[in-house]
Amino acid sequence: SKDNFDHFMLKEIFDQPNVLRDCMRGRIINAPYSRPWSPQQKGKNTDSLSVILSAVTLHRRELLRARRIIILSCGTSWHAGLIGKQLIEHFCKLPVEVAYASEFRYSDSVIEPDDVVMAISQSGETADTMAAMEMAKKRNALVFGIVNAVGSGISRISDTGVYIHVGPEIGVASTKAFTGQVTVLVMLALALGMAKGTVSQEEYNTVLHELVMIPDKIQKVLEQNDKIKDIAKKYIHSKNFLYLGRGYNYPVALEGALKLKEISYIHAEGYPAAEMKHGPIALIDSEMPVVFLATHHQLYQKIVSNMQEVISRNGKILAIVTEGDEQVKAMVDETIEVPPTIACLAPLLSVIPLQLLSYHVAVAKGLNVDQPRNLAKSVTVE
Ligand code: M6R
Repeated sequence: SKDNFDHFMLKEIFDQPNVLRDCMRGRIINAPYSRPWSPQQKGKNTDSLSVILSAVTLHRRELLRARRIIILSCGTSWHAGLIGKQLIEHFCKLPVEVAYASEFRYSDSVIEPDDVVMAISQSGETADTMAAMEMAKKRNALVFGIVNAVGSGISRISDTGVYIHVGPEIGVASTKAFTGQVTVLVMLALALGMAKGTVSQEEYNTVLHELVMIPDKIQKVLEQNDKIKDIAKKYIHSKNFLYLGRGYNYPVALEGALKLKEISYIHAEGYPAAEMKHGPIALIDSEMPVVFLATHHQLYQKIVSNMQEVISRNGKILAIVTEGDEQVKAMVDETIEVPPTIACLAPLLSVIPLQLLSYHVAVAKGLNVDQPRNLAKSVTVE
């Protein structure tokens, strides 16, 4: 049910603090003795958290042997895959490729038996993702599913995997599945990094401690719903939007743009902020709002210079910033603040205002938010 919300999408956006707690439950535990595969560390850091994923425990051998990970997915799940690549490369020092399942299945891509193929899917029924997995299975790669819908096709053909456990997602625009996927990818990168010995104990502890605080921080972002609604009303007549971010926030820019396209029918493009100079800057004028992901992380100052370039061309800026950022606030038209966190968890907070922005733009335009035109919740045909 929608509870007291006007739409499933809004309910699902507001569900995020709780469902992410569900996603972490039983996987992040405060029990040092159960830390896997590092017997030499047993007994140390008695108050530290551990992440335990049975898929990683059971398939430890194949995962440690993997020379490469290939992530296959579509749409929002592909955006989560781009974040997964950064996480796994950082924590596990393992090369990761991310492909659209639809392209991968018809390409001459090489799959080796020591590759691990990860399929990310909310519905677990996406035809292209399933077909790409079948291909990987034929080539004897370990097929690892990151799925929401329990018992779905993708979960059944996976050799192993991790459910995101965020509950049914009804709104066509994916919201809580995205943050659930990113949460699982963080846990997976940490669990595998610990097994491989490629993540330091200190960083592992820091990320886990920050991760368990994310649901409360999302709650703080949600408290700005009314403010975001007011901002959204100012943009309903815009015809185009640009979304820019870097590093972990680059896939968030893609995701923000996709959300706006899907339910508000406004053309939007996401780019890595530095790519602006290589073309999109030509589009900027007073009619072209630019959404910047400008939290206090990687390359913040460079993002600030990109903003200056937009301002000097009369572009309107809406910036997602870290709480207390006076520098950007003084420069741009609108800011939405998110609580501070570490870079690799930034997407879990910065995507929330973008979900709400697209929701409120669509509602203000009188559109059918939960069932936008031409779209289906699961794409079971190619
Ligand atoms: O169920 P899946 O995660 O496999 O679906 C993939 C895409 O079809 C899906 O993310 C789509 O892009 C959503 N409508 C995005 O909001």
